[in-house]
Amino acid sequence: MPCHGKDGVSEQPTVPSIGGQWNDYVVLALFQFRNGHRPSEIMGPIAKPLSDNDLGNLAKYYESLKPWAPSRHSSSAALAAGPALTQQKNCVQCHAPGLPGQQSIPRIAGQHIDYLTAQLRGFRAGTRGDIDGNMSAAVKDLTDADIAILADYISGLSTP
Ligand code: HEC
Repeated sequence: MPCHGKDGVSEQPTVPSIGGQWNDYVVLALFQFRNGHRPSEIMGPIAKPLSDNDLGNLAKYYESLKPWAPSRHSSSAALAAGPALTQQKNCVQCHAPGLPGQQSIPRIAGQHIDYLTAQLRGFRAGTRGDIDGNMSAAVKDLTDADIAILADYISGLSTP
C-alpha cells in the first residue's frame, strides 16, 4: 500500500503509519471504514470490497511489522505540559504508559502530528467514528490549545 508507506511507515503527514499497529485495532478500523461508521472518502471505497478474511489478513500483516519511529521532536512547551495532560485526561490508562496502545486501542506514540490533530478534533466534533464513545468522552473538554500540546507531545514519543 503506497499511501501508508514502505513497511507501513507513512511519509505523508495526514496519512497514519500503521506498521506494527495492533491487529485488533486494524480490524476495527477497517470494519468501521467498510460499514461507513468511520466516514472517509479515501478509505471507504478501499475497504468496501474487502471480506472479513481480507480484514484479518491485512491486520495480521501490519501487526507483524516493526512499529514506526517518530519523525519529529516535540517542542519544549509540549514536553513540559504533555505528560501531565495525558495523565489528567486518562490517555495513558487506555493507550498505556508511553502510549503504545494495546489490543483494540491504537498505538499513537510517534504518529504524525497532523494526523493526530485531525483525529482529536474529529472525535471532539463527532465526525470521526468512535467504536465505544470512549474517545469522544476523553476529548470533549479539550481546548484547541490542549489538542495542539497533545499532538505535539505524542508525535515525538518514541516507545518500543
Ligand atoms: C477509555 C479509553 C480511552 C481513553 C481514556 C483515551 N483513548 Fe484514545 N482511543 C481509545 C480507543 C478505543 C480508540 C479507537 C477508537 C475507534 O477508532 O473507534 C482510540 C483512538 C485514539 C486516537 C486515534 C488513533 C488512530 O490511529 O486513528 C487518538 C489520536 C487517541 N485515541 C488519542 C487519545 C488521547 C490524546 C487521549 C487522552 C486525551 C485518549 N486517546 C484517551 C481509547 C481511549
